[in-house]
Amino acid sequence: MKKIIKLFNPVTDLSERRVLLKTLDSKFWASGSGSGNVQKFESKFKKYVSADSCVAVNSGTAALNLALSLFNIRNKEVILPSMSFVSTAHAIVENGGKPIFVDIEPKSLCIDPEKIKDKISKNTIAIMPVHFGGMPCNLDKILKIAKKNGLHVIEDAAHAVGTKFGKKKIGSHGTAVCFSFHPVKNLAMPTGGLIAINHKDSTKFQKLLFSRRWCGITDRNDTDYDVKELGWNYYMNEFSAGIGLEQLKKLDKFNEIRKKIAKQYFNKINIESKMSFNEKCSYHLYWILVKNRQRFREKLYKNGIETGTHYKPIHLMSMYKKNISLPETESVGKKIVTIPIHPNLKKSEIKKIIDTINKSL
Ligand SMILES: Cc1ncc(COP(=O)(O)O)c(C=O)c1O
Repeated sequence: MKKIIKLFNPVTDLSERRVLLKTLDSKFWASGSGSGNVQKFESKFKKYVSADSCVAVNSGTAALNLALSLFNIRNKEVILPSMSFVSTAHAIVENGGKPIFVDIEPKSLCIDPEKIKDKISKNTIAIMPVHFGGMPCNLDKILKIAKKNGLHVIEDAAHAVGTKFGKKKIGSHGTAVCFSFHPVKNLAMPTGGLIAINHKDSTKFQKLLFSRRWCGITDRNDTDYDVKELGWNYYMNEFSAGIGLEQLKKLDKFNEIRKKIAKQYFNKINIESKMSFNEKCSYHLYWILVKNRQRFREKLYKNGIETGTHYKPIHLMSMYKKNISLPETESVGKKIVTIPIHPNLKKSEIKKIIDTINKSL
């Protein structure tokens, strides 16, 4: 069978295997003091991104759901881009809020700060920027708009582990920053996510999140515990955290490799509309815009190259369909193709991807 160059391909070595076996033998698989991987991961990640506090959960979706639960958004409006994975909008609905979609900037595919202003109403409570593909949103502008209007900024940083904005890593700017460690992400786990908090009440928020990630249980000790509010089964397991600890050690190296590949794509792919090159980007995705997407993707697949469409705009999904027009998002949604950019790619495969794309345009 012909070898296919995969769109995503997590990088692992012996260190992940060792930690899996160690956790297996410890018999502490869920989350707790036994293996201690979850607490260690939270503490190392907090240091990595320089956040006030971090709470690990079992997916990026859980991170978004719990982060929004901190801000009583029921019947309130939350501003977000439509060019994202559907979890970004679901988290708002799950918490009783109303998603308000805003168009994107064509260069970064991140939410357009200038267009946010037009959508703020007296009912708006928060802005949820998505660092698309790992490209940092313009947080200076977004945080300024938020401050002026008394809004929370809850970042969807599922793509942006290792991305910087200004001198600081994503994870240290917004009130709550949500990461995903899904196996395709730059820091891969079987499943996982995390909320980084930056707020004067971060200790209080952390406590609430600890309780909500495990069925509302607080003050647990051997003989007694209490439940004061609703919670979910969202905790990170010890296997995921163990893998995450190993992946975190290698993350900067992986991201440097992704950056080098992105630079080659940017310089050598003969197409105007493509992801730009930015030293601060983690390059979870690399996207290009093509006219006849179906035919283009089939050609690449025939040549052994897997591609993706990230994403179909959320406001065009049946559940979210409204009579709104987001011209940039809709135009990109028809043309976007994502191509392999993982650190497992060989030099010859990168060349093959570039040559095949240039021949298939
Ligand atoms: C932008 C974005 N937000 C949220 C998520 C949800 O993360 P998870 O799959 O870990 O639940 C994803 C995952 O693909 C994503 O890409």
